[in-house]
Amino acid sequence: MLQTPPLIRLDETSSTNEEAFLRQAAGEAAPFFLTADMQTAGRGRAGRNWISPKGNLYLSACLQNPCPAGRLHQLGFVAGVALVRSLKQLAPQSDFRLKWPNDILEGKAKLAGVLLEARKQEGANVVVIGWGVNIVTAPHDLPYPATALNDNHPQIDRDRVLSELMENFMSLFRLWDHSKNFAAIRQLWLDHALPLNSPLCVKPDGTQKIEGCFSGIDEDGALLIDTQTGRQRVLAGDTIWPNPSAGAA
Ligand code: BTN
Repeated sequence: MLQTPPLIRLDETSSTNEEAFLRQAAGEAAPFFLTADMQTAGRGRAGRNWISPKGNLYLSACLQNPCPAGRLHQLGFVAGVALVRSLKQLAPQSDFRLKWPNDILEGKAKLAGVLLEARKQEGANVVVIGWGVNIVTAPHDLPYPATALNDNHPQIDRDRVLSELMENFMSLFRLWDHSKNFAAIRQLWLDHALPLNSPLCVKPDGTQKIEGCFSGIDEDGALLIDTQTGRQRVLAGDTIWPNPSAGAA
């Protein structure tokens, strides 16, 4: 049984994901967690920046050869469920939801995001999962609504989220069982996701945007989206957020 991996704590780094890759390459044994109080070059999905002032949570988990290479994307679902489960444990009455691929919403506003990155280092598949959670402050100049945990839950402090998240991630990682039990993770993800038939607009990697309704996740972890021309399957990509005045999440 995998023990809880060690946690490296830093005052500041460029990106906890980058720092985790560098430390693994320099000999730090994976798995390990790494957190920093602030990031100077935090990164989000699709090449975006992740604004990273002091007070919010920046956590990365570094894993080595966790499963066959073609299934690494499944870890994004493990990571998302781990965070939403942690938040629900800390604020049970609140409306935390997962939005494909890896956004965590409170109500209709983005509270957190997950960035999964993989590299081949010395012949090993090294995977780093990074969570960014707005605890004390959310950026204002985004094309979508954003919120911070302390806006609605001033009593929850960052280190409680950190310890719940590490614990939940490890227990779900064990349940996932190196991808052999993705079915259980998929079901948990769907249980915490936006309702089926919610409007969704996505941009698959390298192609045109697709507009339709959320129709679930298939057994390989691909998004299913029902469009006017039929059902489409999207393995990787990003959400395009609607104009907030349109009212949908
Ligand atoms: C997103 O675009 O929604 C994903 C954001 C992920 C941000 C986290 S913060 C910790 C880790 N280090 C990074 O540079 N990015 C991730």
